[in-house]
Amino acid sequence: MQSVGSDPARLIAYRGGEAHVEGVALSRIAAEIGTPTFVYSRSALVETYQRFARAVDGMNATICYAVKANGNLAVVNTFAGLGAGADVVSIGEMKRAIQAGIPAGRIVFSGVGKTDEEMRSALAQGILQFNIESPDELNALSRIAVAAGKRASVALRVNPDVDAKTHEKITTGKKGNKFGIDIAHAPAMAAKAARLPGIAFDGLAIHIGSQLTSLDPYRHAFKRLADLTRELRGQGIVIERLDLGGGIGIAYQTDGAQGPTIALDDYAQVAAETVGNLGCKLVFEPGRSLVGNAGLLLARVVRVKDGEDRRFVILDAAMNDLVRPAMYGAHHAIKPVRQPPAGTVESPVDVVGPICESSDLFAAQRALPPVLADELLVLLSCGAYGFVMASTYNMRPLAAEVMVEGDRFAVVRPRQSFEDMLGTDRLPDWQASDLPEARSRGAA
Ligand code: LLP
Repeated sequence: MQSVGSDPARLIAYRGGEAHVEGVALSRIAAEIGTPTFVYSRSALVETYQRFARAVDGMNATICYAVKANGNLAVVNTFAGLGAGADVVSIGEMKRAIQAGIPAGRIVFSGVGKTDEEMRSALAQGILQFNIESPDELNALSRIAVAAGKRASVALRVNPDVDAKTHEKITTGKKGNKFGIDIAHAPAMAAKAARLPGIAFDGLAIHIGSQLTSLDPYRHAFKRLADLTRELRGQGIVIERLDLGGGIGIAYQTDGAQGPTIALDDYAQVAAETVGNLGCKLVFEPGRSLVGNAGLLLARVVRVKDGEDRRFVILDAAMNDLVRPAMYGAHHAIKPVRQPPAGTVESPVDVVGPICESSDLFAAQRALPPVLADELLVLLSCGAYGFVMASTYNMRPLAAEVMVEGDRFAVVRPRQSFEDMLGTDRLPDWQASDLPEARSRGAA
């Protein structure tokens, strides 16, 4: 059976002429919740997690879901229920993971800019591991741990200088990237970490990038990690845990045009061949591969506009809801919710949002069946780095999020209200009387 990861369109199925996610018609969600709305399939989340877990079964591994990919409570709680740990990069993500039921003892804290406050808070929670990325950070954590009467469990994140062959904005393991410690400097720093009073040093970590579609960069990076492990052990330094990061790419194209993505079993085999015989516990940090193709963005066509040389399909979703096309030139497949009759001829259109910049473009010259105002469309592969990267640019409230399971669905985050969006700003007190509301109060 094909997995949801290998074809984005598998998330939807047309029944009775209408696209469904599991047993729920998307038109029903649009009618009850409105649009734009992110829709996730709980069965797809469970399926992708279990596939990952099966692939690394027997490898003494902890799967630490990268919360940054999709931090919705219902999503994180789904993985918590399946035994996942979490990879977090902020105290907000740590709080979300714990709130969702992931034990602190299964949480890894990554990131180049952990503040003292964040480290103190994570230490107090008793997380599994800090992935440390600079000498200064190491010293700061040791100081904080000593002051708290604790020792922080630490892995050094090394930069293996491997080209992940992915988009430049999501490459993280090359010389010149801000991430990790140059692998050449790692032995000296590991020796130092092993001596610091507040540090229990016992691991190494890497993460070379996101949306990888080839195994070669992994093979190179894992080999370098294995070599470094042997070198450090040769110096009497204990290495018990290797964190292999995340990054496995998913299919974004429905027609296979993107080429093959990484098969999980092959990935696990590369890990087994390179670091499997070191007797280390392993940590994996998958994000996108667990959630990306388990979610979509449901939007309504506001109107269709014929420009000079092209037709624009203008949606009620925009780059503030899904920034990936504007930010990375990312491709998201687009499908109509109403099934086009067999033999419908597709023609190229630009699918855009209403935001006031030309980068608010979801797809240029994309072949679509004819669409009319008020029709519903879906953008596929929006489960990862979708809602989490949303903003209120152009004063557009954050979209709603919905979870489907079987033939039921639930709002797992309501659409932001105008009250919430507008009500948080304040005027300085010397300006308050200028508000129409205050003026009318003053007059009363
Ligand atoms: N671990 C670390 C330390 C990371 O920095 C990341 C992602 C992951 C794990 C999870 O990687 P994944 O399995 O999801 O590829 N916003 C971009 C992707 C940024 C990825 C950042 N780091 C996008 O929309 O493509």
